[in-house]
Amino acid sequence: MNITYYGHSCFGVELNDKHILFDPFISANELAKHIDLNSVKADYILLSHGHEDHIADVISIATRTGAKVIANFEIVVWFNKKGLVNTYAMNIGGKCKFDFGAVKCVSAIHSSSMPDGSYGGNPMGFVIESAEGNFYFAGDTALSYDMKLIGDYRTIDFAFLPLGDNFTMGVDNAIIASSFIKCNKIIGMHYDTFGSIKIDKAEAIKKFNNQGNKLYLLEIGEVKSF
Ligand code: NI
Ligand code: MN
Repeated sequence: MNITYYGHSCFGVELNDKHILFDPFISANELAKHIDLNSVKADYILLSHGHEDHIADVISIATRTGAKVIANFEIVVWFNKKGLVNTYAMNIGGKCKFDFGAVKCVSAIHSSSMPDGSYGGNPMGFVIESAEGNFYFAGDTALSYDMKLIGDYRTIDFAFLPLGDNFTMGVDNAIIASSFIKCNKIIGMHYDTFGSIKIDKAEAIKKFNNQGNKLYLLEIGEVKSF
């Protein structure tokens, strides 16, 4: 599975010849100025919650690519009112099969409002199941015991976990999350973008190593195979 990092919590995942894009926030990210928004491929756009730093480029990318936007009901209705029609609403606990694999929505401990202040439903994470492997995209979340359900539910080959602290869990809690989901390959996200979520990258990698885990902190624009 090829994974492209677009900064913050935005990743492109190539799965079964489809491009799945998570939480697009590129054009307003100072660290991602070298990314050409028009080069970002998407057949599906998955949104964990309604905050600006997860949805900023949805309309632009969805309009250009025709990608199907998958999110909770409230976020989908909000984008429908903005003119996007290729959408699919889900909610926590629900699972649905698509042509790239299945999406199961899992809980995230966070908040969710739209940029205009309207209600953004509940924040979610996603477990993606496919013939090429399973992975967990946590979204913005605190550490929670619910993550043990994910580890019991499926073999998780790798996981995207937030590391920046302040708005989400930080490095130490992400290491505990890794054990809850029984996964030792972690791709870090939601760090360094703003002053309040800066991390010491070398120390984070060392801490994960000490627990027998591998932490990947991709360069923005980097493509890596998992
Ligand atoms: Ni958020
Ligand atoms: Mn966020």
